[in-house]
Amino acid sequence: MNFKKLILLLGIAVIFSSVTFAQDNKYIGAVKCKMCHNKPAKGGQYKIWAEGPHAKAMESLKGADATNPKCLKCHSTAAAADQKLVGTLKVSEGVSCESCHGAGSAYKSATIMKKQELSLAKGLIIPDEKVCKTCHNEESPNYKGFDFAEYSAKIAHGNPTKK
Ligand code: HEC
Ligand code: HEC
Ligand code: HEC
Ligand code: HEC
Repeated sequence: MNFKKLILLLGIAVIFSSVTFAQDNKYIGAVKCKMCHNKPAKGGQYKIWAEGPHAKAMESLKGADATNPKCLKCHSTAAAADQKLVGTLKVSEGVSCESCHGAGSAYKSATIMKKQELSLAKGLIIPDEKVCKTCHNEESPNYKGFDFAEYSAKIAHGNPTKK
């Protein structure tokens, strides 16, 4: 093998390793997002989430249900995730930010977060209706139907300084 070919192969290997890396992003938990996403003037996302239904999802699981994987798969981000990827996220957080926005370890730094295209490349998800329906569906024993516009309004935590 000549030198140019070797460099080319190494280049390809580097590209592939950075692509597969996205799947290895770790879940860091809502407290880490709070540092930057709790300013009232910018929408106070953490506070809205903490007072909303998703942060309280574990409170609905009583007794043995609190450790039943059949319930945890929708009621807890930490319990539902690949355990190798659970960093500082806790089961008690219920449905945490990263169920909707993707595991945060690679996009959490300010330099990446400031640019949407970089954040998306590092695993940030801007969730649509499909993401909600992974949990809001008939498999839920307490399913009440799902209207995206109505349900989104109930958990809205937009940044009023944008758009
Ligand atoms: C070090 C600070 C910092 C941390 C930690 C951080 N973010 Fe961000 N985030 C920002 C900044 C800065 C922006 C861009 C400006 C804005 O929207 O406030 C942003 C933007 C976003 C956006 C909007 C993206 C868009 O373009 O519409 C989402 C969603 C988001 N962050 C989610 C999260 C989540 C979830 C976590 C935790 C897993 C997190 N962020 C952690 C600083 C941070
Ligand atoms: C990982 C699973 C999961 C995802 C994804 C999810 N939810 Fe939920 N959601 C739940 C659970 C579990 C509850 C019930 C919490 C409780 O009361 O125990 C809930 C409750 C709610 C409620 C309160 C409903 C009520 O009866 O008062 C709203 C509103 C809601 N979700 C909106 C959304 C929207 C909008 C999305 C998508 C952007 C979404 N959810 C994505 C699991 C999820
Ligand atoms: C497929 C996802 C999913 C599974 C599995 C699931 N839940 Fe839920 N659960 C939800 C969602 C979403 C809601 C919010 C209700 C709604 O608006 O449809 C909810 C709401 C609830 C509530 C609140 C009831 C209410 O009237 O708001 C309780 C209690 C609950 N679930 C218990 C359980 C138990 C116990 C299990 C396991 C046997 C379980 N859930 C399994 C998604 C799920
Ligand atoms: C149930 C799903 C869900 C959860 C949980 C959730 N978000 Fe979001 N988030 C959304 C949706 C939906 C949007 C709106 C996306 C769009 O603009 O289309 C959004 C938007 C945002 C934005 C962008 C606001 C803007 O207007 O630019 C930020 C920042 C954000 N979320 C941070 C967080 C943080 C931090 C947490 C946890 C403390 C969190 N989110 C929890 C679904 C969720």
